[in-house]
Amino acid sequence: MNKITLKLGLWFFFVMLMIQVCLFFVLHTGLVESRVEEELDALLARGNSHREVLEDSFHAETLHHIALMELKADTEVIITDDAQKILISSSKVDAGEKKIVSKKLKDIPRGGMILESRWKNEKYISTVSPYTAGENQSGYVYMFKSTDQIQQLISKLNQHLLFAAAVMFILLIITNLFLSKALTTPLIQMKQATEKLSKGDFSVQLPDRGDDELGELSRSITILAQDLKRLKEQRNEFLSSISHELRTPLTYIKGYADVARRKSIEEADREHYLQIIYEESERLSAMMKDLFDLAKLDRHAFIIQRTNIHLSSYLATVYEKMMPAFQEKEIRLDMNCDETLYVMVDPVRFEQILFNLLDNAIKYSDPHTKTSVIAQQEKGEVFIAIRDEGAGIPQEDLPFVFDRFYRVDKSRSRHLGGTGLGLSIVKELVEAHGGRIEVKSERNKGTAFVIWLKEEKE
Ligand SMILES: Nc1ncnc2c1ncn2[C@@H]1O[C@H](COP(=O)(O)OP(=O)(O)OP(=O)(O)O)[C@@H](O)[C@H]1O
Ligand SMILES: [Mg+2]
Repeated sequence: MNKITLKLGLWFFFVMLMIQVCLFFVLHTGLVESRVEEELDALLARGNSHREVLEDSFHAETLHHIALMELKADTEVIITDDAQKILISSSKVDAGEKKIVSKKLKDIPRGGMILESRWKNEKYISTVSPYTAGENQSGYVYMFKSTDQIQQLISKLNQHLLFAAAVMFILLIITNLFLSKALTTPLIQMKQATEKLSKGDFSVQLPDRGDDELGELSRSITILAQDLKRLKEQRNEFLSSISHELRTPLTYIKGYADVARRKSIEEADREHYLQIIYEESERLSAMMKDLFDLAKLDRHAFIIQRTNIHLSSYLATVYEKMMPAFQEKEIRLDMNCDETLYVMVDPVRFEQILFNLLDNAIKYSDPHTKTSVIAQQEKGEVFIAIRDEGAGIPQEDLPFVFDRFYRVDKSRSRHLGGTGLGLSIVKELVEAHGGRIEVKSERNKGTAFVIWLKEEKE
């Protein structure tokens, strides 16, 4: 048995046991008390009815008649005169009865009263009813009932209660076993699942447990396991693509360096090889910078300092900076921004987003095409669309363009100097700004990236 099951089971057991004991105690005393009370009431009523008979006709015959009646019943009667001298008794008067009859009586109400109710220690319980039959004949009717009978009655009651208690006890143990098992089984399964997770085994399967908190917890653990699994896979994939990406420029550098250091080659060729080595190193360091950015974004260590900026003047400065690159490739760049728009962005990081997208537009478009940047407001949000008339992205590649190192046409992008990190940085940065980015594209028609941000008031 598990520790928690035992602990919970014992707790539950003792609490329930205490409740049961208390309940039985209250029930028992209540039952006994009402039983004894009933007996006393009956005794008193019997005494009173004898009194009625006596008061109706006080004769020796009546006295005998009463005594005879009691002889047959399980109660006893003693009738005395005013001075408590016994006139008649239904059976032989014993010491217990004498003791009660000899008690001083004073101001007994007409309804009679209880003289002895201590059924536990005394031999009899007893009542007395006063009678007055004519001028000079009055006295008392004493009624007795042996406590043996009451004790018998109560021991029978005890037997019943004891039996009920035993049944309850067994039921308690059974429910206890089931309940603590039912409660702790999911907990134990989850504990085992998390142990497996911590050992790196992500194949965790927890049964569905409905909508309660335990169910939620178990679902969270399953999701956690899936996330961890995906993260691990992503990391492996990422590492292998990094090493792959590093290998190519390094192979170039090594190869060209090897050739360049030969004494026999022409100076012009050496120049050329050194140029290639330089370009490849540049590319490596750019890639390192991107990777470093991404790592920072992953750790949320990227500090984004947002300020409220006037979008159209901001876009104008970006336009200024990008213009020469577009001119060089003879691509037209149009910009159209609503004058009233304000957004909360980090100017440096947001520029990085736009540069990356515009850089792609240049890289993947042919000369004499057009790229447009349009910023507008829609339903409390601001969208900035960067649309080109370039090569487009095939439909099947669209879901992956934001993945790290993902390039549609590996060799072509490489030739253009791309590493496939630009868009993943863009996406992370947009999300760090609390926005989202969408892409739409059609082969040979063009591509549109749309950034959505919350609109700010001036
Ligand atoms: N405007 C676009 N038109 C056509 N294809 C695009 C466009 N933007 C991105 N792509 C495709 O998506 C891929 C990923 O783009 P991303 O910017 O992440 O990488 P990259 O441009 O190749 O390299 P980097 O930006 O890191 O220098 C590109 O290789 C390209 O195939
Ligand atoms: Mg790019």
